[in-house]
Amino acid sequence: MGERDTTGVLFVCLGNICRSPLAQGVFLHRARARGAHHRFVVDSCGTGHWHVGKRPDPRSIEVAARRGVELPGRARQLDPERDFDAFDLIIPMDGENLRDLLDAGAPRDRTRLLRSFDPALAGRPTSELDVPDPYYGAGDGFERVYAMVDAACAGLLDDLLRR
Ligand code: 4NP
Repeated sequence: MGERDTTGVLFVCLGNICRSPLAQGVFLHRARARGAHHRFVVDSCGTGHWHVGKRPDPRSIEVAARRGVELPGRARQLDPERDFDAFDLIIPMDGENLRDLLDAGAPRDRTRLLRSFDPALAGRPTSELDVPDPYYGAGDGFERVYAMVDAACAGLLDDLLRR
């Protein structure tokens, strides 16, 4: 990741109100706990436009707040021309986000599903690495998403701090 002092990490989902803001907040929280947040520029965005300008979904805010994790920012849409250059790593939440990114011209070698960084899932096929969209689901969807995002962000941070 070379010449810049910081590594840019962009988390991407569909709406940028449920999963990717959670990943952004959790990654920053974990980086801060290791005194390493200054080494990263972290952001998130959505492939879709529907929620641009909104704060994260209250259910994501709540599940994070219970662990002392703050969710920054407001939803924005992916800007391929700028984002693929500005960020070193592009991290989609599911296979659909990954396909949409590649269709928009994302660099294949710098674009990787979030859960592929979860060491407990090493070797699993791509089809088993989705962080499922919790937006329309009920019940414990956001809890399950939080656990997935947290484990994967821990692995991602370990990976980046080793580089
Ligand atoms: P996200 O969840 O991609 O994790 O932010 C969604 C939020 C809203 C919609 C879809 C997914 N939506 O269709 O409105």
